[in-house]
Amino acid sequence: MPYRDEISDHPAVGRPVSELPTPAPLVDLDLLEANIATMADFFRGRPAHIRPHAKTHRAPAVARRQVAAGAPGVTCAKVSMAEAMVDGGIDDVYIANEVVSPPAVERLCALAARARVAVAVDDAGNVAQLAAAASARGVRIGVLVELDAGVGRCGSRPGEPALALAETVARAPGLELRGLHAYEGHVVQNADEARRRAETEKMLDLTMQTRDLLARHGLPVREITCGGTGTYAISGVYPGVTEHQAGSYVYMDPGYHEKIPAFGLAFSLLCTVMSRPAPDRVITDGGLQVLASSPAPAMAKNHPELGPARLSEEHGTFRTLDGSASDLRVGDQVEVHPGHCCAAANLHDRVYAVRGGRVEAVWLATARGCSQ
Ligand SMILES: Cc1ncc(COP(=O)(O)O)c(C=O)c1O
Repeated sequence: MPYRDEISDHPAVGRPVSELPTPAPLVDLDLLEANIATMADFFRGRPAHIRPHAKTHRAPAVARRQVAAGAPGVTCAKVSMAEAMVDGGIDDVYIANEVVSPPAVERLCALAARARVAVAVDDAGNVAQLAAAASARGVRIGVLVELDAGVGRCGSRPGEPALALAETVARAPGLELRGLHAYEGHVVQNADEARRRAETEKMLDLTMQTRDLLARHGLPVREITCGGTGTYAISGVYPGVTEHQAGSYVYMDPGYHEKIPAFGLAFSLLCTVMSRPAPDRVITDGGLQVLASSPAPAMAKNHPELGPARLSEEHGTFRTLDGSASDLRVGDQVEVHPGHCCAAANLHDRVYAVRGGRVEAVWLATARGCSQ
């Protein structure tokens, strides 16, 4: 059955990419498919499986391809993102975040009536709130107790505090204790591979100690979920981990690619050179409003002579690294990889799926802006 978020009769379909109005968000289908296959192959036959984080692409068309490659469902950051994924045919979603605002709790319960849904918790009051809402609606919500075992963000402390919270979940009507969630966000992009590994394993060691504590108290811990792209080969194979939440691998950005070259740069913004005010300076029509703000810089594809972009609202300014004259002329097109693929993808309602220089499909990012 065709999905409404994959538009095959869009006027751009079948046309050369160079005819698109710029800046235009592009997904390189060969690279996207290779990235999905590489991750799927890595997890095939292992105890853990990949549940990709949908905040990278926000497009059900991409999520469906990840599920077709073996993922049981997707990870989401917010209820509205999960709704968009379920609307797009994904029937198993994990919201790897606390859901606290009453309207979001209501929507979570409504979603649980039409899909397999789980959520993270780190607070007993929130557990009571979720239990009351789920019971009133007659639904059952999966729950993972989030641990702060190093990330310094949300999460219960490992050990006794997590046990107390898990006992509260296990007693609560309408909720099903599924397991534990930990996230190595403090090191997932650390350039030092040894440090990335050591800190991730330290976090998972604490997580497994907590799992064992829960088990000794008769609490089931069927799921242990964690992970990002920078640690897929570390936490993804750590004994006891059952799910991995890597997201960026499917689109990638230059900073991540440098550390994890197994995944290609599948996402870019096609931009037009709009000014050449000096021999070494190239100005494109893609700035912050399409590439997003990020600590890591945007980079021009296939132009190693150009340094990192300096972005203002609607301009991307590139300079040659050695001060030499660039060959680019006004009107030329340049693909630019954003410094943070997830933040940039969240700025675009649709992406052009391209292969061999032609637009093959237009995909709607129906979860774009879904931050509630
Ligand atoms: C809880 C959680 N899991 C997984 C991810 C995915 O990480 P990455 O995009 O580095 O693959 C993130 C990233 O923000 C996250 O916050």
